[in-house]
Amino acid sequence: MRIGMLVSGGDCPGLNAAIRGAVLRGVDVLGFEMIGFIDGWRGVIEDNWIPLDRRAVRGISPLGGTILGTSRVSPFSDEAGGAEGIKRRMAELELDGLITIGGNGTQTVAMMLSEAGIPVLGLPKTIDNDLDGTDFTFGFDTAVSIATEAIDRLRTTGESHRRCMVLEVMGRDAGWIALHAGMAGGAQVILLPEFPESVEQVCTWVESVRDRGRSPLVVVAEGFRLEGMDSVSTRAGLDGFGRPRLGGIAEVLAPIIEERTGIESRATVLGHVQRGGVPTAFDRVLATRAGIKAADAVQAGEWGTMVSLRGNEMETVPLSDAVDKLKSVPESRYEEVRLLFG
Ligand code: F6P
Repeated sequence: MRIGMLVSGGDCPGLNAAIRGAVLRGVDVLGFEMIGFIDGWRGVIEDNWIPLDRRAVRGISPLGGTILGTSRVSPFSDEAGGAEGIKRRMAELELDGLITIGGNGTQTVAMMLSEAGIPVLGLPKTIDNDLDGTDFTFGFDTAVSIATEAIDRLRTTGESHRRCMVLEVMGRDAGWIALHAGMAGGAQVILLPEFPESVEQVCTWVESVRDRGRSPLVVVAEGFRLEGMDSVSTRAGLDGFGRPRLGGIAEVLAPIIEERTGIESRATVLGHVQRGGVPTAFDRVLATRAGIKAADAVQAGEWGTMVSLRGNEMETVPLSDAVDKLKSVPESRYEEVRLLFG
């Protein structure tokens, strides 16, 4: 069997471990021939790929980023020619199937290709952990660790100056990173996209921290919205999805808090630091297991499915059950951290 693999969408720590897992199982154990497309679907369009074998993946598990590169190019772009164009390219390269590593957008595209008759298997990844079809995605644990370390560091400088520190972490649609890092780091206020709050409420929480003699530490997910404000667009340009950048909520919040509470406030936007660098051991293990499972699922002909972690087991779920359903932070999880506020 000859299998192509690609990474699409934003990168995340653990991608290389996943590629290695799939190749070691697929090539060495199951006897596949494997190739890796460079920069996602762009590599398919431009015929840019490398052979993947044991030598190609040696020692890559601890490395951040991806040896294959990634892009947000879609197979449904004019250049790619949609499902028919991809089928043609696969025939030219004598490929029997594709493993697409990516988040929600990538897996949605994988499902569309699968519905058009292309043998595709999804391998989920995202630091946001917002894919509904799996318990955890690799990349998330590393991002949470980095964000937690940032909280620990901001706390000491914040306390030295008796300031309110506002840390913005990633999470466009779901607040998992803010929730977990905020809980681990003992943030006194955690603000998530799922639960808009008023300026008054945020300032009341901040003041109650100050009234107890502490320096407030606020963690805010980039997708958080202040009630009554549709969007906060403070950074120029468009994001990777062609939408106006919606980041910068921390930079909006900090001056508002300072003005309303009189507490000197500072904003930190953690940004892509969360996506870079070495993956945690947890992410390396999860990613390696996901890669191994992807090769096994290909061997079993489970096309149109996505690898999924359920409890401690690697399984597959139909792509149609996994995509387009955002895994939001439920109220019960938010209530847990609300106990710690103030
Ligand atoms: O989907 C992962 C993610 O990190 C989001 O949390 C964030 O909004 C987005 O990617 C940033 O994407 P880009 O790399 O295009 O700036």
